[in-house]
Amino acid sequence: MKDFIAALPKAELHLHIEGSFEPELMFEIAQRNQIEIPYKTIDEVKKAYQFSCLQDFLDIYYAGAGVLIHERDFYDLAMAYYQKCYENNVIHTEIMFDPQTHTERGIAFETVINGLQKARLDAKEKWGINSLFIMSYLRHLSEESAFETLKQSLPYKDLITSVGLDSSEMGNPPTKFKNVFEASVKEGYIPVAHAGEEGPAEYIWEAIDILKVARIDHGNRCLEDENLVNEIVKRDLALTVCPLSNLELRNTDVMTNHPLKKLLDKGIKATVNSDDPAYFGGYMNANFEAVQEALDLSKEDIVTLVKNSFNYSFATDEQKRYYLEKVDEVIADFN
Ligand code: HPA
Ligand code: ZN
Repeated sequence: MKDFIAALPKAELHLHIEGSFEPELMFEIAQRNQIEIPYKTIDEVKKAYQFSCLQDFLDIYYAGAGVLIHERDFYDLAMAYYQKCYENNVIHTEIMFDPQTHTERGIAFETVINGLQKARLDAKEKWGINSLFIMSYLRHLSEESAFETLKQSLPYKDLITSVGLDSSEMGNPPTKFKNVFEASVKEGYIPVAHAGEEGPAEYIWEAIDILKVARIDHGNRCLEDENLVNEIVKRDLALTVCPLSNLELRNTDVMTNHPLKKLLDKGIKATVNSDDPAYFGGYMNANFEAVQEALDLSKEDIVTLVKNSFNYSFATDEQKRYYLEKVDEVIADFN
């Protein structure tokens, strides 16, 4: 199974680039930029990465992102992630970035996007990896701040495919961002949103009915509302599920209770993703291995998850056909 998972080409649809910031690179960039960080050793970092909820994690995640100053820092961050994609056989990835995490600290939008874009081109050339960008609004900030971010993005519109919604979910329902999502869609961005990670099923209803998302990030708590499950199936909306994240943020108590298999059994198009791999202990293959083992997923389940990742990506139909052919070649090799 491990070999099968590793050999399959995959698409990643839920990844925060700031969450792929490995401690070694964080030390290096902090030193380069002469910024003090509260850890001296990797051991100290690992100790700090014990989370009891989403907010606990977010506090540390935003602090870590604080050492990113120059275009080169964003380039290095993204190249390190693309290298992991190569190692994990991720051939298509849809990368979220949080402009406000940086613009709030006085870093220009252009510094962030230019660093990411250079890395994207180099990763395509070096490893053949295709990727697109999802600009995510921070939901703990105001809708006005999201509007400002939308405005800053417009000169770079051609580089950005989609808009998302992340950060502290409880108390920041999707409705808060109704207008800015409408305006974003008018600019051509495809809407997605985190919903039902910690927040209730009601937030997922708002994401689909009010923000009109094309995909739901996490969405685990839809299982608490049967009508919602039926609606998600009917509207053919995929969920970007993140197993190790759910475990580390205690949205799942033990992996054997993870809802992934239930979601699949209900006919929901689930996918497997790493979310913030540097903080949650694993990239794509590790996420697949963890759920496969805990839930005793079959080869067919793994194939379904992998095919979902391509089918529900924002790739072109032609790209999708090519990707699915590659998947079928590997399946044939294993039979
Ligand atoms: N949830 C919400 N916001 C986030 C996450 C997450 O899992 N990761 C980075 N920002
Ligand atoms: Zn996320």
